[in-house]
Amino acid sequence: MKIYRTADYNEMSRKAANIIASQVILKPDCVLGLATGSTPIGTYENLVEKYKAGDLDFSEVNTVNLDEYKGLPRTNDQSYYYFMHENLFDKVNIDPEKTNLPDGMKPDSEAECARYEELIQSLGGVDLQLLGLGHNGHIGFNEPAKAFDKETHCVDLQERTIEANKRFFASADEVPRQAYTMGIKTIMQARKILVVVSGEDKADIVAKAFFGPVTPDVPASILQMHPDVTVVADAAALAKVPQSKTL
Ligand code: F6R
Repeated sequence: MKIYRTADYNEMSRKAANIIASQVILKPDCVLGLATGSTPIGTYENLVEKYKAGDLDFSEVNTVNLDEYKGLPRTNDQSYYYFMHENLFDKVNIDPEKTNLPDGMKPDSEAECARYEELIQSLGGVDLQLLGLGHNGHIGFNEPAKAFDKETHCVDLQERTIEANKRFFASADEVPRQAYTMGIKTIMQARKILVVVSGEDKADIVAKAFFGPVTPDVPASILQMHPDVTVVADAAALAKVPQSKTL
């Protein structure tokens, strides 16, 4: 695992975008695994700038997102479909046909999750998976559990997650109760993984996830077992990691 320490959020975003850009330049028809959340927004902004400067071509790129709320239409501004279009897809020359998210409006969870898993396989797997890190160590919607979840599946959102997300909705009642997410096995099958983390509120979980024991109680800790993980984190998020362990 390579851990880059950046001065701040902006430098983290630039560095992460540079890594994604090199993947796209080296393999123009690559499969990018994408994430939502607040952390990657700056990374997407930098990718859009590179595209506008004529340095990046997304026309052959395929994307698969980590997760999506179940039961939220794509037109809802809290859906991850909406987020991806707003922050990246509508601002670059990506082919909408080549962008993929779990379809939260498909009521048959088993069928939709199986379809998504097969789709990832049919694309040849993920070349580079971008991840954010939850305060409890979750990746995608894989929350702390007794065992590592495997493939794309439907999760019941934890009360804490509903509480945390309700600020984005008119009321807690409107927060979806379930989501579809890639599983830990799906994520671990990506050829390369890039984790972005920012802020002092993530310092404890960064130390725990990347230097503590590998346990399903901290889902991101499994990344220690992956052969090609790059973490790009700002100094605040790395406050509890010795300088000697980072680049
Ligand atoms: C997003 C996702 C989540 C977030 C995580 C961190 O698709 O799956 O696991 O990456 O909750 O979120 P932020 O970046 O908002 O701190």
